[in-house]
Amino acid sequence: MKVTLYSAQPYDERFFEEARLEGFANDSFELVYQKTTLTHQTTALAEGSDAVCVFVNDVLDKTVLEALANMGVRAIVLRCAGFNNIDLDAAERLGFFVARVPAYSPEAVAEHALALAMTLNRHTHRAFNRVREGNFALDGLLGMTMNGKTVGIVGTGRIGLATARIFKGLGCRVLGSDPFPAPAFADIGEVVDVDTLLARADIVSLHCPLTDATHHLINEASLARMKPGAMLINTSRGALIDTCAVIEALKLRQLGALAIDVYEQESGLFFQDRSSEIIDDDVFSRLMTFPNVLVTGHQGFFTVEALREIAQVTFQNLLCLTRGGHCDNALMQASY
Ligand code: NAI
Repeated sequence: MKVTLYSAQPYDERFFEEARLEGFANDSFELVYQKTTLTHQTTALAEGSDAVCVFVNDVLDKTVLEALANMGVRAIVLRCAGFNNIDLDAAERLGFFVARVPAYSPEAVAEHALALAMTLNRHTHRAFNRVREGNFALDGLLGMTMNGKTVGIVGTGRIGLATARIFKGLGCRVLGSDPFPAPAFADIGEVVDVDTLLARADIVSLHCPLTDATHHLINEASLARMKPGAMLINTSRGALIDTCAVIEALKLRQLGALAIDVYEQESGLFFQDRSSEIIDDDVFSRLMTFPNVLVTGHQGFFTVEALREIAQVTFQNLLCLTRGGHCDNALMQASY
């Protein structure tokens, strides 16, 4: 089976080859690592492949899926949990097998959400630079004690639950909102509706998937309902937040601080070294001007444990396909 991996970085190759050596793949698998993202322009790179292996910013809309199907590709394996980037109706109609990695160290993303909140709160990123320059002044580094603060977790699934446990461990009061709250959340915090959560939380952390219902969940109206000066953390998907509305709320001082690991238009920016290029995205550039905004480039998942899990489970999904039968991680079972 020939598998083309799009958006493949050197670390992907390292962990896939390690998993292969550890016996997670059989000898029939031929892996082709392509650095480029899957788009309308790059489908031809999958010529001769049985499967494509994709990541968060690869485009799997109807046109791309039709092009892949016409080339004989019959399986899509996602190296991620979220599947907002694939047109599942089109995939089903075209008879694709589609599988994902539903959980790869939820704690990795939860711990990154904590790192963002801690950094923003205590300004350790600024302190790091100051001290290196011999500036030991504290002015501008004032934070709040996390203990006793209220943290709102939007989406109490695997990552939300792990995040809630961490904040609870810091002595925070934890609120959660979710149309289907995890039963385990009852031991950690209080389930409330999203408006109550926004009104009461000092820190709001987003952990729900991106769907039509959650697109721009954080918008002008919901920002106005937030506690003035609250901190917003998004490690889930960029389009949960209306970035322009967030910029306005920051300018009004309604939103106290913002940390994002994901960005609405990240596909044109993230996962590449663009340090020698001019960034054309004015919205992103405006975000970079705020001292109370912290952005990381979609690295919440980026731990050894998570990358190992992604490679191993992806191979298991492919083996499932070759052997036939039910695949637990399939969004679309093989129809042949
Ligand atoms: P999950 O499926 O375990 O949990 C998602 C939860 O969100 C579910 O409990 C669901 O009922 C809830 N939900 C759905 N609609 C909601 C709404 N309107 N309001 C509140 N809650 C809602 O998913 P998991 O594993 O916790 O992942 C969450 C998201 O994190 C993924 O969808 C993905 O977008 C993102 N993610 C980000 C990574 C990163 O590197 N930054 C890595 C992995 C996932």
